[in-house]
Order: sequence, then C-alpha cells, then structure tokens
Amino acid sequence: MSTSALTNDPRLKLVDRTIKKFDARGDALLEVLNTAQEAFGYLSPELIRYVGHELHVPLARVYGVATFYHLFTFKPKGEHTCIICLGTACYVKGAGDIVAALERDFEVKSGGTTQDGKLSLTTARCLGSCGLAPMIVVDGTVLARNEPAATVERVRAATTTKAVS
Ligand code: FES
Repeated sequence: MSTSALTNDPRLKLVDRTIKKFDARGDALLEVLNTAQEAFGYLSPELIRYVGHELHVPLARVYGVATFYHLFTFKPKGEHTCIICLGTACYVKGAGDIVAALERDFEVKSGGTTQDGKLSLTTARCLGSCGLAPMIVVDGTVLARNEPAATVERVRAATTTKAVS
C-alpha cells in the first residue's frame, strides 16, 4: 500500500482518532499501534511510518516497540481482509448479524483466517463513518449499509478475485 493509498483509507480515521485522544503524545505509541493493528489487521511499513511521524517518535523506536510485542504482525494474514465495524451505530443496525453470517459461511471466527488463507475476518470499533452503518471494509474498500446475505455474497466475490493491495 502506498502512502497516498494509506491517507485515503477510511481505516486511518480510527488511528487518527486515537492519536488525537492522546494529543499525539509519544507515550501513546503502544495504544496507537494497537488501534492501527485492530483497524488494518497488520502493521504495514507505511502505517508504521505514519504513526511515527504523527507521534514524533523516531522510526527505530516505533519498530522497536512493534517488534517487542508479539501481538503485532507485519503482513496480512489472509489474501483478503474483511473488517466489520462493531461500533454502536453499526451494531444497532445489525453488524452483529453480519459477523455471524460471515463466520458461518466462511467457517472462520472473527480475528481468524480461513484454512485456505483466502480471508482474514476482523472487527473494529467505530471506523468514523457512522452514516454508512452498518459498514464493512473489504480489501480497503468501504461497503455501506450492509445486510448479512448480500454481504456474504460481496465478500465471496472479493475472495474469488486477486487481492489488489
Ligand atoms: S459505528 Fe460503525 S462507523 Fe461508526
């Protein structure tokens, strides 16, 4: 993912919100990396650079912290990623049912990757686009106002094409 692709990525709003919450203090590094991993599923080099830049923390220190904790990963686990927002607005509009349908259909638990390595399913807190609720992000593309059956179809279509990022 290029830097411009990253700055246009709606998932970055979640990272930005955490940075703002901590007034871009360097000591919030771990919390911000946690949010970044939750939103994107892994920490790309561009994302790590972005976090370091925004928190005014040297890149070596960001890598030092990220590699120290085993909860962080640096590569996408599945060939495709699907992130379902479980923030309040999305949840009240049925995001929980979407998660259940995807888990059932793809035989994978949220936070996991299908056995064939095709799809990683993750959930996130509010992604900052509540007007699109319930919203999901498939391979970096935002899909708005979803419902379970159609979402399964859309994710299935995405996983049968080649990943772009
Ligand atoms: S609750 Fe889902 S985008 Fe805000």
